[in-house]
Amino acid sequence: MKKNIRVLAPATVSNVGPGFDIMGFALNFPVEEMIITLTNKPEIKIKKISGDKNKLPFDITKNTATVAIKKMLDKLNLKIGVELEINKKLNSGSGLGSSAASAVASVFGLNELLNNPFSKNDLLDFALQGEAVASGSIHADNVAPCLFGGFILIRSYNPIDLIKIKSPKNLFCTILHPQFAIKTSEARKLIKKNYSLQELLTQTSNAASLVNALLKSDFGLLKRSLNDVVAEPARAKLIPGFYEIKNSAIENGALGCSISGSGPSIFAFSKSIDEAIEIGNVMKIVSSKFTKKNIVYVSSVNNSGPEVI
Ligand code: HSE
Repeated sequence: MKKNIRVLAPATVSNVGPGFDIMGFALNFPVEEMIITLTNKPEIKIKKISGDKNKLPFDITKNTATVAIKKMLDKLNLKIGVELEINKKLNSGSGLGSSAASAVASVFGLNELLNNPFSKNDLLDFALQGEAVASGSIHADNVAPCLFGGFILIRSYNPIDLIKIKSPKNLFCTILHPQFAIKTSEARKLIKKNYSLQELLTQTSNAASLVNALLKSDFGLLKRSLNDVVAEPARAKLIPGFYEIKNSAIENGALGCSISGSGPSIFAFSKSIDEAIEIGNVMKIVSSKFTKKNIVYVSSVNNSGPEVI
């Protein structure tokens, strides 16, 4: 049996406009990196965390990766030693599914080391329980696309029912990450508990249209469907200059633009890599009027999920 493994798990964009808590997709870039080692001492331990400016807990009951691993080992009733080195390439609180990527990388990698006793569907459950310690809620719209790749629609949470949606090959995503953090648990408090019938109709019709647009590679419909009346209006105030940044993306040809997860990252779609790069440049210029440091990523959709390197 192999003793250690290095795993990459993709960043994810959840909500995708009108798909609050029910839709997300994976990116090829950026990715989270983790090294998992089997040891002789029967304990779960985080040996090293780099790239997080000392923000993430070493306490194994509080870190998403170790909580997920514990659930997995408990299910197997296995007393083995597991040591993690977490190389945070995704900032926590970025809106790019950082905690989900840690949880997914850990269970995916350990499963590989143990010769795959679990299916990806089983791993989803462990990773979701890990993710819940960071975000304070069970939502699969980062964990599921991170694990399965592609666009994922969550039809039901109980029981979990996921649908992978084909997306256009020439769909590119620009991510603007203003360099500050938003806690998902705090951002969730801004979401109203009740919505009007009109809001319900707008959200469901746009979510359904978005799925159809992806399946048919209908970019016009995609642009019309990227309309969220639930999370974006409630959370825009958390991101200085959000509407100016969004407008700059749309004016420069983006096929829609909205908040990635609970923010502060903002995503925009384009149908070519050149447009995606140009849109990123413009978004960054506008955002720097409000937030000092901003990072831009441009990526196509990752269709495979985590990988061992
Ligand atoms: N759907 C979740 C939310 C994703 O928006 O709160 C958080 O990453």
